[in-house]
Amino acid sequence: MTSFWTGWISFIVLGSIFGCAWLLWITRKSQKFDTETEQTMGHSFDGIEEYDNPLPRWWLVLFMGTIFFGLAYLVVYPGLGGYKGLFGWTSVNQWEAEVKKAEETYAPIFAKLAATPIEELAKDENAMKIGQRLFANNCAVCHGSTAHGATGFPNLTDNDWLYGGSPEKIKETITGGRNGSAMRAWKDEIGEEGVKQVAHYVRSLSGQEDVDAAMSAKGAEIFTANCVVCHGEGGKGSHDMGAPNLTDGIWLYGGTQSVIEATVRNGRGGVMPAFKDQLGEERIHLLAAYIYSLSHQ
Ligand code: HEC
Ligand code: HEC
Repeated sequence: MTSFWTGWISFIVLGSIFGCAWLLWITRKSQKFDTETEQTMGHSFDGIEEYDNPLPRWWLVLFMGTIFFGLAYLVVYPGLGGYKGLFGWTSVNQWEAEVKKAEETYAPIFAKLAATPIEELAKDENAMKIGQRLFANNCAVCHGSTAHGATGFPNLTDNDWLYGGSPEKIKETITGGRNGSAMRAWKDEIGEEGVKQVAHYVRSLSGQEDVDAAMSAKGAEIFTANCVVCHGEGGKGSHDMGAPNLTDGIWLYGGTQSVIEATVRNGRGGVMPAFKDQLGEERIHLLAAYIYSLSHQ
């Protein structure tokens, strides 16, 4: 908030409280308690008149109570004009203290889990429950709550890997992130006709039958010349390059003629964010075990 608004709000709050106190003070002379009379204020609205009686004592006490409460609240809690409060309490402080306490409680648990090899940890039911929760909080937005993925976001349950499914590789992926931008646009280099031909060839690799043989033969030449470096001989893929296996019928972006053409024409570049700073080594170890468990049951 700007200092203008801080000042303005402080002014309204304090003004209201002292305004009420002032109102009680100037009417104090008429506060002779428990002295009800028949005397009226002397005015009449359509025959309705008002007695000239003091405020009831209980009402007055409540009123003063709210004023004291309001002032005490302002002294104890932070707020007015950047004031820090009597005990320095803030919701941020409280949250940080709770997080710290939770860290202290869970640190030994995570430390113990982090010392267990991933293959073994993947069989530990309780550890996997924690892993599942970490996954739901950090990964499900992209990979889906059941880790089955979506277009552009790999399925993590099928034991088909872009970057490799060994415990070390999975850990490496989560820690440092990945980037599929090596799959650049090929339109300028091989031309629109070349894009069509190589897409026919790519489809033939996974045994699709409605492939044009002549187109596919031309495409095979383009593939050997340009694509084998990453996708490997016969299109089996490469974990080092993150280049998908094109023969298994499992598609990151789709295996129809038009989608493959789009992939080759414009390129792709899926980004898996790095979680090193956000989660730390121990949680990543546990998550890696969870991912590993999804395809090793
Ligand atoms: C912002 C979206 C996003 C989030 C969040 C995300 N991922 Fe990913 N992840 C991706 C994308 C996109 C890829 C594929 C990268 C590529 O195309 O090169 C990927 C790839 C992976 C891979 C590699 C799969 C393979 O076949 O080699 C693993 C493992 C993985 N993610 C695990 C996780 C885990 C665990 C988390 C949570 C800590 C997570 N991801 C969070 C988007 C995300
Ligand atoms: C420099 C390495 C490299 C080269 C060369 C390369 N690719 Fe790729 N390719 C990749 C990577 C990495 C991906 C994954 C992109 C991603 O994760 O977003 C990919 C993805 C693809 C896909 C998507 C597969 C799916 O599952 O949806 C197709 C199709 C493809 N490449 C075909 C080709 C063709 C055809 C060529 C040659 C014209 C080629 N690639 C050349 C690295 C390469």
